[in-house]
Amino acid sequence: MPPLLAAAAVTKSYGGVRALRRVDFELQAGEIHALVGENGAGKSTLIRIFAGAALADSGEVRFEAHPVTLRDPLAAKALGIAVIYQQPALFGELTVAENIGLALESGGLWRRIDWKQRKRAARELLSQLGSTIDPERRAATLSMPEQQTVEIAKSLGARARILILDEPTASLTEREVTALFGVLRELRRRGVGMIYVSHRLEELPGIADRVTVLRDGETVETRKMAEVDRATLIRMMVGRDIDAVFPKREVPVGDIVLETRSLTCPAAGVKNVSIAARAGEIVGLSGLVGAGRTELAEVLFGLHRPSSGSILLRGKPVAVASPDVAVRLGIAYVPEDRRRHGLVMPMSVAENVSLARLATAPGMRGLDFQGENGTAREYTSRLAIKTSSVATAVQTLSGGNQQKVCLARWLTAAPAVLILDEPTQGVDIGAKAEIHRLMSDLAAGGMAIVMISSELPEILGMSDRIYVMRGGSVAGELRRADATQERLLALALGEEDAAA
Ligand SMILES: Nc1ncnc2c1ncn2[C@@H]1O[C@H](COP(=O)(O)OP(=O)(O)OP(=O)(O)O)[C@@H](O)[C@H]1O
Ligand SMILES: [Mg+2]
Repeated sequence: MPPLLAAAAVTKSYGGVRALRRVDFELQAGEIHALVGENGAGKSTLIRIFAGAALADSGEVRFEAHPVTLRDPLAAKALGIAVIYQQPALFGELTVAENIGLALESGGLWRRIDWKQRKRAARELLSQLGSTIDPERRAATLSMPEQQTVEIAKSLGARARILILDEPTASLTEREVTALFGVLRELRRRGVGMIYVSHRLEELPGIADRVTVLRDGETVETRKMAEVDRATLIRMMVGRDIDAVFPKREVPVGDIVLETRSLTCPAAGVKNVSIAARAGEIVGLSGLVGAGRTELAEVLFGLHRPSSGSILLRGKPVAVASPDVAVRLGIAYVPEDRRRHGLVMPMSVAENVSLARLATAPGMRGLDFQGENGTAREYTSRLAIKTSSVATAVQTLSGGNQQKVCLARWLTAAPAVLILDEPTQGVDIGAKAEIHRLMSDLAAGGMAIVMISSELPEILGMSDRIYVMRGGSVAGELRRADATQERLLALALGEEDAAA
């Protein structure tokens, strides 16, 4: 059988940056083909070419062995190619049902719309994914994982022959990943070919049939997934062995820096939360999507006003009325949806990195460009941010490299409390180890770190203590020594009511 979709010697440059160099890739019908590589390796670029969102400079794209020129996304869609991008692209002002409807219905704006039918279709597609998102909600109110779920529902509805997923599980928890994999397996059974991009290497053996590794814009190799183990895969990706992924260091723990007492905020769905984080401590917040972890972080950062209960900093009650106030009090928050809250896309790497420091040092007028560039350069190299210079606009960086810029910004600000929401989501294995090392360093320096993570190995590997949330409240607390995957999940699912 000829491949369903193929790239032959595809080359693509952006200015001086060679994003792809003579890349070969083949997708068969009924296979799930993983595409992996470090941040900036060229994965999303190859996908954009298959999606008709970018044109190759040279080389060929073939559909069922016929060369095709995909000049625009409609041309790809006409061939049955659906793409779920790294950054969800929903219309915020429209409802979930409307967003899904747009993907299903063709025939333009003139077509009559059956609203009831549309809502029913949306609900049906979402339930196939094990989701209970209300189709009438405005997309702007969805969390990151909810947005990804809606994106997947859209492509399910479009009955694609080829489905391309760019890091679909980056912000999903185990349970949603399981639901998604169930759907992908069903699609595979129906003969759909899927390209699957992910930095979560541990999930690949469970889902992928073959894997292609890209490095610096070149194809390294395509292998059967069953034939490669994790270490081999990493070596193919980075060209060398990588040491420990979770270098959590034991550091002396000091006084309580941040504390909440019966913190309640109905608007954010946070109920009666009492937690504490000490200097030198990394506190994990675990739970299923929708458990209230991000919402709690948002209350701590002044994005929602609590209705009762209190927040204390070093023992003193504080009113965190807004993010400005939070920053001045020394509370920093790296949100999950970095595109929406994090970065100023047209500005340079250096400018983005220094934004937080400007906010924390409001008295400092006049920019210290020398210092700004120096710090940006230091973090660019520590986090291995792939950019031609610190003067490059953030919008031209790859997804993972944008994440790193956002993180660098807050790491340089030296807050008393650092709240990280999915800090390593979408970053490659080398950068992940470096981010964990930085977190350990910061904790050793006396910072209190609160980390939200959906990856169990990360929560278990990095946290001194873990609060497990469920339904907006803390369901239980586990010390590092007592924390296991089973206990954590039991608490998250409400099957155990133990506390440490
Ligand atoms: N519009 C653009 N302008 C300039 N450079 C670009 C543009 N798009 C991509 N690049 C560059 O091309 C290279 C490959 O980027 P790409 O987004 O394909 O990487 P990726 O493998 O998807 O990485 P990640 O894992 O971080 O998502 C990067 O060096 C990136 O900076
Ligand atoms: Mg990408």
